[in-house]
Amino acid sequence: MAEQTGNLTFGIIKPDAVRGGKTGAIIQRITESGFKLRGMKLIHMTHEEAKGFYDVHRERPFFGELTTFMSSASCVVLALEKEGAIKAWRDLMGATDPAKADAGTIRKEFANSIGENAVHGSDSEDNAGIEIAYFFSRLELV
Ligand code: CMP
Repeated sequence: MAEQTGNLTFGIIKPDAVRGGKTGAIIQRITESGFKLRGMKLIHMTHEEAKGFYDVHRERPFFGELTTFMSSASCVVLALEKEGAIKAWRDLMGATDPAKADAGTIRKEFANSIGENAVHGSDSEDNAGIEIAYFFSRLELV
């Protein structure tokens, strides 16, 4: 694992995209953009697990909606490696609100709304480490 090099980030393919059969197309976009997959698995979070993951947003008005949605069906969690991974993955995802996302981004192509926006990505190196550790054990990272 490329620990603390700034070259790792964390991603989620969210329930809307998994349910919609977009997992393969999104993985293809990720690998074609030069990311290496260091960890990948299908999970189905409990509501408590989703609340723990999004704890930083617990005071937001959308917290209930967000955590109910994220625990409503399966997600794919990803540990992604690329030089400048945090920014590269956020650029590939596009704006949180798909209506504001640039052409060619994953959210522009696959997302329905700000709440059901196909993918998640870490916003900093520190959070990438925390988020990868939330879902992956050391043995699950190659
Ligand atoms: P994500 O990158 O997973 O991080 C927090 C999530 O909260 C974000 O993507 C959105 O899906 C969600 N979110 C942000 N703003 C809103 C909002 N106004 N209404 C509903 N969900 C939101």
